Amino acid sequence: MSKSKQTLGEFIIENQASFKYTSGELSRLINSIRLAAKVVNHEVNKAGLVDIIGAAGDTNIQGEDQQKLDVYANTKFIQTMTKRNIVCGIASEEEDDFISINSQDENHQNKYVVLIDPLDGSSNIDVNVSVGTIFSIYRRITPVGTPVTIDDFLQQGNRQVAAGYIVYGTSTMLVYTTGHGVNGFTLNPAIGSFYLSHPDMQFPEDGTIYSVNEGNYIHFPKGIKNYIKYCQMEEGDRPYTSRYIGSLVSDFHRNMIKGGIYMYPKSSKNEKGKLRLLYECNPMAFLAEQANGKASDGFKRIMDIQPTELHERVPFICGSKNMVEKAEEFMRAAESE
Ligand code: AHG
Ligand code: MN
Ligand code: MN
Repeated sequence: MSKSKQTLGEFIIENQASFKYTSGELSRLINSIRLAAKVVNHEVNKAGLVDIIGAAGDTNIQGEDQQKLDVYANTKFIQTMTKRNIVCGIASEEEDDFISINSQDENHQNKYVVLIDPLDGSSNIDVNVSVGTIFSIYRRITPVGTPVTIDDFLQQGNRQVAAGYIVYGTSTMLVYTTGHGVNGFTLNPAIGSFYLSHPDMQFPEDGTIYSVNEGNYIHFPKGIKNYIKYCQMEEGDRPYTSRYIGSLVSDFHRNMIKGGIYMYPKSSKNEKGKLRLLYECNPMAFLAEQANGKASDGFKRIMDIQPTELHERVPFICGSKNMVEKAEEFMRAAESE
């Protein structure tokens, strides 16, 4: 008889002892993300219905239902984490500034800040293609009991305590790390529980998939152009195959399972790239490294970059170790030409 699968709730409790600090605060935080994920999942799944119900003029359609899903997801994640009084600060793609929680209350002892991309891949919502949520968690560096400051958020990625994503795909999965490998949980929608379906996820060292928006090709740096040509060249297991969903979460998820590389380089259109360091690249980089993969800006490790702004952008190359190293080789070669 096969062993029944562990739920995410059980997994969190069982692994709490392996955290450096075992107050239970981080477990509660991950639990609240799990809860918000289910609420957002429910909404994402009926995205196509909003117009139909709205058009029928149904009275049960609230203003909230017609909100854009990224705003809805933002509100739900922030509400869940603030109402349960679990974190001391939140930064979100959808908020210009960070949010300080209970900053008036000197007794609040919360130690963690969360940075979040509530809805990643938002251009895919209207066409029924997978989207996601990305989160990154740090311990604050300012004293507990005082309002958080920008310094609590501008920490290097290598100081992350936990990071993860939810992919709202053909099935909904929550994938996360607390620095002890990467585990993936699949939602059973009938029961409303996440079950450990992908223990100890690992990027294959090599892969044959490259994911990049080739529509921007002529604007890419020479090193990236050369690497793309290398991927297309016939030799050994090449040409590689190209897959690009346009939701970082989904492209990353597929590449981690199958082996591949994701690239959003800088271009003559986006001098610094497009993806945001703090709530897109750093959490994905942490997951990648924990899964035996690699994440780079083309020259250096993503998680060693010192952030200077909440919403700063960075070129991003991430995936199977050998593929990322090959792309870096092309970047360096083009630089020294
Ligand atoms: P978001 O929806 O949070 O703004 O992020 C979209 C990001 C990322 O998920 C995706 O890989 C990339 O933008 C796609 O950009 P292009 O459409 O320029 O390829
Ligand atoms: Mn995004
Ligand atoms: Mn987003």
